[in-house]
Amino acid sequence: MNTTAPIADFDAPATPASAPAPTSLASSADRLGTSAAQERTAVLEELIRTDPGRFRVLTGDRPTGRLHLGHYFGTLHNRVRLQNLGVELFVIIADYQVLTDREVADNLTTHVEELVLDHLAIGVDPARSTIFTHSAVPALNQLLLPFLSLVSVAELHRNPTVKDEISHSRQSAVSGLMFTYPVHQAADILFCKANLVPVGQDQLPHLELTRTVARRFNDRYGNGSTVFPRPDALLSAAPLLLGTDGTKMSKSRGNALALAADADETARLIKGAKTDAERHITYDPATRPEVSSLLLLAALCQGRTPEQVAADIGSAGAAALKRTVTEAVNEHLAPIRARRSVYAQDRAQLRRILREGNERANAVADATLAEVRAAMNSDY
Ligand code: TRP
Repeated sequence: MNTTAPIADFDAPATPASAPAPTSLASSADRLGTSAAQERTAVLEELIRTDPGRFRVLTGDRPTGRLHLGHYFGTLHNRVRLQNLGVELFVIIADYQVLTDREVADNLTTHVEELVLDHLAIGVDPARSTIFTHSAVPALNQLLLPFLSLVSVAELHRNPTVKDEISHSRQSAVSGLMFTYPVHQAADILFCKANLVPVGQDQLPHLELTRTVARRFNDRYGNGSTVFPRPDALLSAAPLLLGTDGTKMSKSRGNALALAADADETARLIKGAKTDAERHITYDPATRPEVSSLLLLAALCQGRTPEQVAADIGSAGAAALKRTVTEAVNEHLAPIRARRSVYAQDRAQLRRILREGNERANAVADATLAEVRAAMNSDY
C-alpha cells in the first residue's frame, strides 16, 4: 500500500485568495444538511461504482460490546459492500472514546477483540482492509493538538450530538475528552486522508466539523496546497430495527439480537419478542411497529420486501411470523457465525490481525504527521 498517495478532494472549490481567517465560523461549504447529504450520497454511489479506487473510507465504532443486527443492517454490511466494490477501507476501534465509561474500560480488551471478531465474521478482509485502535496510533492522536487550535470552544458547545450525549450520559461531570471528542474524530478521519465517511445522521455534525478543520488547516498552513481533503458523508439509509421489547434495538436496553448469538439463543429471543393481538400479519410501521419491525428483519435477511413476507404469512399469526423471522435470521447469519467461530478459536491470529492493522495505520499516520510538521514549520 502506498501510504502517502494523495486522495483527491474532488469537490473542493479552489480556495479564494481572500479566504476568511481560519478562526472564523464554519463556511457553508462545510455544511452537511440531511437532504443535501442525501443528494450527494446518490452522486457518490455512482462514482463508487465507476471508480472505487478514488475513495478511501474511514469509519468505526466505540468498543462497547458485541454488535447486533441493528448495527449489521445499519452500517456493518455497508462496510463490506464498499470493500467488495474495491474501495479502500479503514475501520477504527475508538478505544479512546470509551475511557469515561467505567464498565467498558474494565473490559476493554474483550470489547476490542469482540469488535474485531464481528468485523472479520461479516467479511471485512484483513488483507485488504485495515482494522486498528486509537490507542495504538500515536501520530493520529498527536494531530488532535493542532486541530484543537483551529476550533473554538463555542463551536464545541454548539455540537448537537455532543449536547445530546452529555444530556443522556450517566456521568455527573463532562470530561474534557468528552467535550473535545468530535475534534479527535476529525483526527481519526484526516490522519489517513479519508475522503468518504459512511455515517448515520447523528454523526453529520462531526463530519461537518472535520471538513471545517481540514479547510482551516489547509488555509492556515497549506501554502496553497491541500494537505487534507474535505471528506464526504455517505449517508446510509439505516432501517430502524426495534428490539424484542418494541423499542429501538440497543445493547444497553438488553433487547438486542447479537450477531454472535447462536441459533438457539436467537430463536428464544425472537420467540419472546413483543407483537400485537391482530392475527392477520400486515406491514404497517405506523400502527403496528413491533410486527412491522419483525417483518423488516426477515425481509432484510431474505432480500425481499416486508410486504412480501407479510403476504406469505397472511392469517397464520404471530407464532408463524416469529418462525419465519427466526429461520430467516439464522439462515442469513449461519455463514457469518461459522466464520466468527473459526476466528474466535485462534486468539493469537486475532491479535496478529489487530497488530498488523495497527502497524499499517501507524505507517499512514506517521506519513501524515510528517507532512503536517513540514507544513507547520515544526520539522526539526
Ligand atoms: N463516534 C462514533 C460512534 O460513536 C465512532 C467513531 C470514532 C467514528 N471515530 C470515528 C465514526 C470516525 C466515524 C468516523 O459510533
